Amino acid sequence: MGQTIEGKTAIITGAGSGIGRATALQLAKEGVNVGLIARTESKLEKVASEAAEYGVKAVIAPADISNAEEVEYAVKKLHDELGFTDILINNAGIGVYGSFLELDPEEWKRTIEVNLYGTYHVTRAVLPQMIEKDSGDIINISSSSGLKGTAGSTAYSASKFAIQGMTEALMQEVRRNNIRVNTLNPSLVATELVFGDDLEEQDKEKYMQPEDLAEYMVSQLKLHPRIFIKQSLQWATNPF
Ligand SMILES: NC(=O)c1ccc[n+]([C@@H]2O[C@H](COP(=O)([O-])OP(=O)(O)OC[C@H]3O[C@@H](n4cnc5c(N)ncnc54)[C@H](OP(=O)(O)O)[C@@H]3O)[C@@H](O)[C@H]2O)c1
Repeated sequence: MGQTIEGKTAIITGAGSGIGRATALQLAKEGVNVGLIARTESKLEKVASEAAEYGVKAVIAPADISNAEEVEYAVKKLHDELGFTDILINNAGIGVYGSFLELDPEEWKRTIEVNLYGTYHVTRAVLPQMIEKDSGDIINISSSSGLKGTAGSTAYSASKFAIQGMTEALMQEVRRNNIRVNTLNPSLVATELVFGDDLEEQDKEKYMQPEDLAEYMVSQLKLHPRIFIKQSLQWATNPF
C-alpha cells in the first residue's frame, strides 16, 4: 500500500536551516531530488552538498520568497535543472513577537509578506505544472499559532491563520487534479526561529526536533495518492 517517493522531485523553501533543512535531507535520503530556496546562498550550498551525499540531485535557487520576480526566476531555474516538481514544501517563514501596539508596523507587514505572500508566490509559480501533470503534493507549514492566537503574536498568527484559509480553499480547487494541499501545524520545534542560540543542549531535547517534522512529512507523502491528511497538529509529548 502507499507509494514510493524515490525518484520524485521536491522544492523546499527555507531549506537553509531548521525544519526546511531537515526536510530536504530526509527527502534526499528517500531518493528525492531536491530544489532548495532561501535567501542565504552559503547555507543552501551546505545543505545541497549534504543532500547530494545521498546520491540525488540537489540544486539551490536563492530567493526572497516575498518577491514575486525572484520567486519566478528561482522556480524556473529549478524546473530547468530538475524537471517537474512533484512535491512543494512551503516552509520558509519568520516570526516577530510583541504586543499589538508595540510591534513595528513595518515588521507586522513584513511578516505577512514573507509568510503569506511568500507561500502564495511560490505556490503560484509551481502549481501550473502540477495541474498540467494532474498530480502533486503541496505541504504548507502553518503553526499551532495558525489555529489559536496567543498574546504577543498578532502578526505571526494573522499570517499563519491566513495560510490555513488559503490552503483549505486551494485544496478544494485542485483536489480534482489529484493535487493534495494541506497544512502542518507544529507547536514548538527546537530551531533558531524560536530559541535563537540560547537553548542548552539538554533542554533542546525536550522539544520536537526538525527531524521529527521531516519524518512526519515523508510518511505523509508516502500515503496512497487517493488519501491525504487535510490538516494536522504536532505536539511535543512532554516538554515540561
Ligand atoms: N520552530 C517552531 O517552533 C515552529 C513552530 C510552528 C511553525 N514553524 C514554522 O516552520 C517554518 C520553519 O521554521 P524554522 O523553525 O525551521 O525556522 P528557521 O530555522 O529560522 O528557518 C527559516 C528558514 O526560512 C528562510 N527564510 C526566512 N525568510 C525568508 C524569505 N523572505 N525568503 C526565503 N526564505 C526565507 C530562512 O533562510 P534565510 O534567512 O537564509 O532566508 C530559513 O532557511 C516557519 O514557517 C515557521 O513559522 C516553526
